[in-house]
Amino acid sequence: MITVRFKVNGTDKTVHLEDPSTPLLWVLRDSLALVGTKYGCGMALCGACTVHLNGAPIRSCSMPAVGVSGQSITTIEGLAKPDGTLTAVQQAWIDLDVAQCGYCQAGQIMTASALLRQNPNPTDADIDEAMAGNICRCGTYQRIRAAIHAAADAQKTGGAA
Ligand code: FES
Ligand code: FES
Repeated sequence: MITVRFKVNGTDKTVHLEDPSTPLLWVLRDSLALVGTKYGCGMALCGACTVHLNGAPIRSCSMPAVGVSGQSITTIEGLAKPDGTLTAVQQAWIDLDVAQCGYCQAGQIMTASALLRQNPNPTDADIDEAMAGNICRCGTYQRIRAAIHAAADAQKTGGAA
């Protein structure tokens, strides 16, 4: 048994793992009931499981939970403000009706949010490069790109990424 302590969405968490190689994704979903983060490929190929580690996007299916010990994780559940105010990225996703089946969208939003924090004014090429690792089988790439531009514009007028 191994004990891992880390911060999730601003709250300290302690989990006890039988298997030290347990991926962070299963700890989030099964131990902490944060099921917004999705399992797609399980092999770091699709991006569905993307969360933020200290603000940077990582693949939680391929990161052992012990690897985030003492660090800070943000999931899709932790993006909006505690009062429910959505970020500019989340609002743009709704306004542009980006999601189709929606399965990949938590990962898409997490990657887009990290991009806009790092680069508030991305070009189409910047967006394509940043989002290349997030696969959407429904093919909403044009709308994802448009939503990221809309969120970038909204941020300029005061919204959070
Ligand atoms: S489930 Fe993690 S990258 Fe596909
Ligand atoms: S919206 Fe269906 S896989 Fe992306």
